[in-house]
Amino acid sequence: MLTARTGASLDKVRADFPESETCGSVALDVTDDASRKAAVAATIARFGAVNILINNAGISYRAVVEHMTDKDECRQMATNYFGPLGMIREVLPSMRERGRGKIINISSVSGMLAMPTMASYSASKYALEGASEALWYELKPFGLSVTLVQPGFIHSNSFRNVYHSAASRPENCEGPYARYYRSMNPFVERLMNLALATPESIAEKVLRVIRTENPCLWVPATADAYLFYYLRRFLPRRLLLHVLFACLPGARRWGEGHTRRRGQRAA
Ligand SMILES: NC(=O)c1ccc[n+]([C@@H]2O[C@H](COP(=O)([O-])OP(=O)(O)OC[C@H]3O[C@@H](n4cnc5c(N)ncnc54)[C@H](OP(=O)(O)O)[C@@H]3O)[C@@H](O)[C@H]2O)c1
Repeated sequence: MLTARTGASLDKVRADFPESETCGSVALDVTDDASRKAAVAATIARFGAVNILINNAGISYRAVVEHMTDKDECRQMATNYFGPLGMIREVLPSMRERGRGKIINISSVSGMLAMPTMASYSASKYALEGASEALWYELKPFGLSVTLVQPGFIHSNSFRNVYHSAASRPENCEGPYARYYRSMNPFVERLMNLALATPESIAEKVLRVIRTENPCLWVPATADAYLFYYLRRFLPRRLLLHVLFACLPGARRWGEGHTRRRGQRAA
């Protein structure tokens, strides 16, 4: 069963994947409990069971911590963490009874390493990673699996869909963090444009997980995901963040003119 949040997205899904004996579609807003329940009920009514749940829906805020509000944080977590967990709770009882089922959570490299201006997104993926790790132990005795597919940068237009808090909107972006956005936004866009991984190659990874008898909990899905995994594992902790900071374009001038810190010009 395919799902989409809005009427327009659902129409597109239905145009691309017409209804057939093996394919259906249903509206789903993962942040809405009633919608989650209705989508799972419709799937069970149509196909008899949910054998595999793929939690893919996600949003990404682009804002420094100081520019987020509680409401923004809740929105980020509602989609990327509470939503997937709610879906899991919805499908688990029948999977557990049948002793069959796979849960596939689309995580991110941001669930391994956090990036400036993406704290809230990272927090949501770290939360998903933590819950999935605990779930692995809980599901093993029932013969169920949970897998985190971890893409890095993907060649796609997804950067156009980023969410901004009121304070991080490009038109409001003056002040101490202006330089952060001016360097991070084009940097991320450039890395996505240069990325070799595509939505199709990630879908292939997901298919491989579906076909694997006992998939691993962690499945890095792009070359940079492997790179960041090994960096985190093997670089001494004292060095890791300093090395990554040095790789961020323009980061040496962040905060310039807005701090009285020694060695930096105050406003
Ligand atoms: N793109 C990347 O470089 C990248 C890298 C690492 C991980 N990821 C992860 O991959 C997954 C897919 O990302 P993407 O790049 O394909 O993003 P995308 O192009 O922005 O698509 C996100 C999808 O999630 C849906 N969605 C958002 N909120 C929803 C909600 N409340 N209920 C149901 N659906 C909702 C959107 O539906 P609408 O069309 O209705 O808005 C859209 O179809 C996400 O979990 C993301 O964190 C992406």
